Amino acid sequence: MTAGGSTPGGPNLAGGADCPRDPDRVLAELAGWQRQVRAQFPILVAADQVYLDSAATSQKPQAVLDAVVGYLTGSNANAGRGAYRWASQTTAMVRRCRGRVADLLDDPDPQRSGVHFVSGTTEALRRVALDWLVDTLADGDEIVVPVADHMANVTPWREACGALAKRGVTVRLIDMPYQPSGDYDVAALAGLLDERTRLVALTHVHHVYGVDLNVHRIRRIVGDDVVICLDAAQSVGHLPVSVRDLDVDFVAFSGHKAMALPGIGVLWARNARGPRYVHRGWDGSPNTAGVVSLEAAIDWLDATGLERIAAWTVALGARLTDGLRRLPGIEILGCQTSLALDSTVQRRQGLVTFRHAAMSATDLGFVLAEHGLMVRADAHCQGAAGEHDASVRASLHAYTTVAEIDRFLAVPGRAQPGGGPDCAPQAPGGVTGRDRRWSVVTASRVGRWPVVSSGRSPAPGSTAGWWCRRPAARCRCIPRSTGRHLRVPRRCGS
Ligand SMILES: Cc1ncc(COP(=O)(O)O)c(C=O)c1O
Repeated sequence: MTAGGSTPGGPNLAGGADCPRDPDRVLAELAGWQRQVRAQFPILVAADQVYLDSAATSQKPQAVLDAVVGYLTGSNANAGRGAYRWASQTTAMVRRCRGRVADLLDDPDPQRSGVHFVSGTTEALRRVALDWLVDTLADGDEIVVPVADHMANVTPWREACGALAKRGVTVRLIDMPYQPSGDYDVAALAGLLDERTRLVALTHVHHVYGVDLNVHRIRRIVGDDVVICLDAAQSVGHLPVSVRDLDVDFVAFSGHKAMALPGIGVLWARNARGPRYVHRGWDGSPNTAGVVSLEAAIDWLDATGLERIAAWTVALGARLTDGLRRLPGIEILGCQTSLALDSTVQRRQGLVTFRHAAMSATDLGFVLAEHGLMVRADAHCQGAAGEHDASVRASLHAYTTVAEIDRFLAVPGRAQPGGGPDCAPQAPGGVTGRDRRWSVVTASRVGRWPVVSSGRSPAPGSTAGWWCRRPAARCRCIPRSTGRHLRVPRRCGS
């Protein structure tokens, strides 16, 4: 696997000698390594639940926790202020971490580029748009923005256009075209570019479609002069990311998705195309504990091996995708294939988003939570052109096990509206509209227990809703206070 994470011209899991195509073989070969990785995550070692929300935030290895506690109990001080030992150690640590970030990103010219610590991807992208881009563009310029990507990579560019409009500068924001597979439509992109295109905002790995968007292709299409800003929130910490290979100008990522603490992120600026990026204003004291965690996380990722992490998560993601595809009523969003050999998309990383034909994503998320499966179930902060209806996203990392994926796959297939003998369909006689005295809408039987959840009122006479006949005796009744979506029939007595 190359440092870019994806190889121009084809996925690495296509069957090269060092990287066999069969995901089960990859998983078997890496099983011993993965057991050791898993053992380093204290939150998971004792957990009886399955964490499948790593795209939202990663869990933290013991080495990162130790580094933070060691710093806070051993040499905590502010950075850039003070001449005593703890202060100068902290200042040196912040400087050293910048170098480690440059290493992580395979920066070919760290003397020229800059590593700026920010709170996360969202802030990093805002800084590029509102501190740099607005002073760079002229009337009639154009920028290309992937409006079906994460809002963090849509809103700042819109705001920049708005700020420029107030100054009387009109900048055209062009939608980056997509294919139904969730891949960028690079052929269509070529037709949208002209000599006024100044910047293309891209995402490395899509947070809903789960695919590596193979950013290499885009540099070849946009040419050498256009600035590329990369949202790497879902790739840094998951696969090797090389700015040398990708030839991008800005990279934004969040530490908390890459094994470090929340509140620390990076904006890397190449400073080769367009004016030099200047980090504006007085930023106050840096998040030194966050920087400590980031440095420890980078050390951990290096020692664990990003190539192996990527191989594990791609293979496990393939098992997850293939398992979901076999289940009735499951619709996977975007790319349907696991290894994407037969699509133009490079390959799927370790995240899959889907819907169930018979249950809302909210209900399914609730059912999964009832089974100790922690996933995300909503619209995933996708930009304006993205999916509007909620969906369920299962996302994994190096610590996720095969057994956990198999445990997860056992649930959506068994979830059916209506359940079994304890829950029978019954027209919601006399209960209409917003009368929620009996507001159980979906009663799903998953495993032994019928699980009762709600989210919508049934239409009068609808058979879509199912009414639990014996709630007090057999249903698991969830107190109102546990969630805004849940309403419990009074007879449950909760
Ligand atoms: C692709 C992508 N970009 C940006 C973000 C925003 O990251 P943060 O909330 O850490 O700033 C996310 C978070 O999920 C993401 O998945």
